[in-house]
Amino acid sequence: MEDPPARSTQAFETEAIHAGEEPNLDPGGTGDLVSPIHLSSTFAMDEAGDPSHGYKYSRLGNPTREALDRRVATLSDAAHAMTFGSGMAAIATTCLTVLESGDHVVAFDGIYGGTKVLFDDYLAEHFDVSVEYVDATDVDAVADAVTPETALCWMESPTNPLLKLCDVEAIGEIADRHDAVLAVDNTFATPYFQHPLALGADVSVYSTTKYLNGHTDSIGGAVVTNDDGLADGIRFVQEYALGAMLAPFDCYLVLRGSKTLPLRMRQHEANATRVANYLTDHEKVTAVHYPGLESHPQHDLATRQMDGFGGVVSFEIDGGGAEARAFAESLDLFTLAVSLGSVESLIEHPASMSASYVPEAERLASGITDSLIRAPVGVESADDLIADLEAGLRHL
Ligand SMILES: Cc1ncc(COP(=O)(O)O)c(C=O)c1O
Repeated sequence: MEDPPARSTQAFETEAIHAGEEPNLDPGGTGDLVSPIHLSSTFAMDEAGDPSHGYKYSRLGNPTREALDRRVATLSDAAHAMTFGSGMAAIATTCLTVLESGDHVVAFDGIYGGTKVLFDDYLAEHFDVSVEYVDATDVDAVADAVTPETALCWMESPTNPLLKLCDVEAIGEIADRHDAVLAVDNTFATPYFQHPLALGADVSVYSTTKYLNGHTDSIGGAVVTNDDGLADGIRFVQEYALGAMLAPFDCYLVLRGSKTLPLRMRQHEANATRVANYLTDHEKVTAVHYPGLESHPQHDLATRQMDGFGGVVSFEIDGGGAEARAFAESLDLFTLAVSLGSVESLIEHPASMSASYVPEAERLASGITDSLIRAPVGVESADDLIADLEAGLRHL
């Protein structure tokens, strides 16, 4: 593995605006401050073979995508970044690169439901991959689950929707001892609040649909790594085998959205903290899950491992599924919708929305109760958001 790139001397805020978009001031360059959207699917050559400008066909290389890849790599302090047509495409391409038929995977039992579908209904069904889910809040449970056949440890921190954490550094040491790849889904924390590669992960993924783009108008994903071999493998599967790249217009949107990532994340966190404290004190709320609260069972780990606590709060109301659903439907400013990580506040009832396809017993065992609500807190006025929640809770 290569040494990680030296941390640039520029601050995250500066890199978020400039990295990847250096104006071309050479003769023939146009000096665009903002990366142009290169829509061409193919590129003209002056003679057969490798063109001097380096581009042949957009699936194999596109200047707008390369600008975004450089931005994401810089913000993640990673040697390599690749951007994909969705977060799931990034996750699936990583798994299909790392795993071989018969391999064993150890996964956090709280990971995103779509990743579980990939493991259980696709990789296990078609490729004889076995997956053991563990409560990775307990490092010993991960150590006990790893076997000589374990090729991949798949973690997420914080998890969706219960905001559980895993100790990436400790799990990285376990994975290293067993020559397994540690992958961490960093969608919730973003590179602004957490650097899994610096903590010991081999690879980290994002759904750029969420905070990196941040404006509810693009589906995308990214993979970052410092491992040259892994990067070559993932790039080969992405470009030649699966073709799951992010389209140029979406690359432009993520380049634009990511410029304000630090500003947005700070406001998401400030608003989420206000909302979490408000809910904690409310008589109609029985539990609040937010890593920034001292009552969160892993608050110390969050303080150690993250530079901020993120913008998603989940909580349980005093009532059953019907009440929780009616509450979510009654809100005005929080829009009833799945997804997260955008400037708008959203609200969802996981039992009847994002986790509705999970068998009830399995859902309840994973902690997604009928009364659970997930609130990705946006960047509107916190006073207005709390007034909206108050009106909904009053009517319960
Ligand atoms: C933590 C996490 N990872 C991955 C994904 C998948 O991303 P996408 O919807 O962009 O495919 C999601 C989507 O909600 C998610 O929440």
